[in-house]
Amino acid sequence: MASMRILVLDTPADAARVAAAVVTDLVAQSPAAVLGFATGSSPQPLYRALAEKARNGVDFASITGFALDEYVGIDVGHPESYRSVLARDVVGPLGMAPLRMHVPDGLGERMLSGRAYENAMAAAGGVDLQILGIGANGHIGFNEPGSELDSRTRDVALAERTREDNKRFFDGDIDRVPSLAITQGIGTILEARELLLVANGAAKARAIATALESEPSASCPASVIRRHPDVTVVLDVQAASLLRQRENYRAQAETWLLRRLAPVR
Ligand code: GLP
Repeated sequence: MASMRILVLDTPADAARVAAAVVTDLVAQSPAAVLGFATGSSPQPLYRALAEKARNGVDFASITGFALDEYVGIDVGHPESYRSVLARDVVGPLGMAPLRMHVPDGLGERMLSGRAYENAMAAAGGVDLQILGIGANGHIGFNEPGSELDSRTRDVALAERTREDNKRFFDGDIDRVPSLAITQGIGTILEARELLLVANGAAKARAIATALESEPSASCPASVIRRHPDVTVVLDVQAASLLRQRENYRAQAETWLLRRLAPVR
């Protein structure tokens, strides 16, 4: 039976603290947990909150990380390659050994990269918790609308909308945004034992409403999370603004916080 917790918080910073608690609860239970890391701007407040936890003594040194996706054809040393972004936002701040963060190979033999990545994920025992953002067109990872719902890690062409959205990371110049990427497939993502999707801001409100309130369909890849048995969605009020039950989800977040902060008897 699918179960989805949707928690709506007033600000992105509050949402990040809740999402960070979901991550640290898992790491407290399983210090060697395998985490899937999304990039983009949505998880950045979460990564800052995790960095603060690391400074306050939470030990992330034994976790293993798998990136959700990577651009194809840009040098790994490029500041906007996802390998660089994750080194900057996650590996360093969380005190992970760099070799514990796996990133799909965007430069190697194209037919082999996807399969090699899936083999590495399987060898690590699979992903315990996959962190996800959502594109304004409903993409997860770089699975654009129309992606097969059982797709695996593979090369994909980026939608014009995605390249337009991401040009802010490339000096505002769409011509500098790669047109290909390698991404975990939707089928791959659904194999993670737990999913944590984070979204902030009004620009994501339409995608969130479609993902959470319509039948799962390839036209909104994020909607497939509804088929997963263990999902937490953490939103700020703006990203939640088009959800019919947004007030219930705010109340759920308050209950969740109260329960979690209750003194242990
Ligand atoms: C990016 C990433 C996705 C991310 C999404 C949203 O292009 N490949 O993993 O979730 O698009 O990005 P942002 O959070 O910056 O809006």
